[in-house]
Amino acid sequence: SNGALTFDVEKNPNAVPATEREALLQNPGFGKVFTDHMVTIRYSENTGWHGWKIEPRRPLALDPATLVFHYALEIFEGMKAYRLPDGGATLFRPDANARRFRNSAERLGMAQMPEDLFVESCRALVRFDRDWIPSSEGASLYLRPFMIGSEVALGMKPSSEFIFCAIASPVASYFKGGASALTLWASENFTRAAPGGTGAAKCGGNYAASLAAQAEGLREGCDQVVFLDAVERRWVEELGGMNIFFVFDDGSLQTPPLTGTILPGITRDSLITLGRDMGLTVREEPYGMDQWQKDAESGRLREAFACGTAAVVAPIGKVKGRQHSFTIGDGNAGLIAGRLKAALTDIQFGRAPDQHSWLDRL
Ligand code: COI
Repeated sequence: SNGALTFDVEKNPNAVPATEREALLQNPGFGKVFTDHMVTIRYSENTGWHGWKIEPRRPLALDPATLVFHYALEIFEGMKAYRLPDGGATLFRPDANARRFRNSAERLGMAQMPEDLFVESCRALVRFDRDWIPSSEGASLYLRPFMIGSEVALGMKPSSEFIFCAIASPVASYFKGGASALTLWASENFTRAAPGGTGAAKCGGNYAASLAAQAEGLREGCDQVVFLDAVERRWVEELGGMNIFFVFDDGSLQTPPLTGTILPGITRDSLITLGRDMGLTVREEPYGMDQWQKDAESGRLREAFACGTAAVVAPIGKVKGRQHSFTIGDGNAGLIAGRLKAALTDIQFGRAPDQHSWLDRL
């Protein structure tokens, strides 16, 4: 890492007072409370990366003709900082986020931030706002690094200027229902990503494109949409904002393969490793929607769960759609999902040995 990297620091003169902050940390919800500072870094074709700053969290002033507003030139990451038992703090696999951020930038024709600059930015923000890392059970500090095309132009061309920014938000459970099993809406009208498209990039556009389906699901009383592949409308791909796993009666796990239309989740990747550590067989293979219903009805499928940085591990109890409607197991949280979640969070919160060197202690 680049230890020589120094950020210009402007302290927030209106930082939230400690007592108020502690009250906010008691019940933060998800993505509604923010820390006092942010990181900003600029890029221009002429000067490269420059002007790295820690500054008060405040509005970005942008010309209305800035490229991001017109052509959705935006990529982002999601990462968490955890409070350790000794009071210290850690990030989880920030190098993996840095790599994915570069890949997302490449797919959208954006400048690729050096991985050590990305990681140092996240570390700097957490160090500066470390009092915002919750210490309550299961809560953490969610980091949202993102980058926008900031050239002022309406011509459809790659941007010559970018703004990188990282903000932080103390969070508890992503879902309002806490740990209760999710009901999924099987979207038949909408798809999320097509071969050759941006499905594997973490760009805002993918999430925007999933919202009509998510709204339809919410109207049907569901928590998340599950998308099928765009070509055959047959294979299960992922949910609106997280990956999916299946657990079978022989104890094996399965998750759709990374063929370019699925977001390569870091939680997904970690759970594949932890599942194998537990002695489970883990397959990265396509799984059909009809097969899913058949296996749920026969009992061959025991569990299904969603996973992501925000969602962690969230059991799936029911699937609803115009052509499909079924319950998985007894409709409640499953055993294997619980064991995997415990194995992952025990490492993240420093309660278990970090066998894979995933922690980045600050
Ligand atoms: C994350 O899990 O970090 C994401 O970016 C997903 C988003 C729906 C919150």
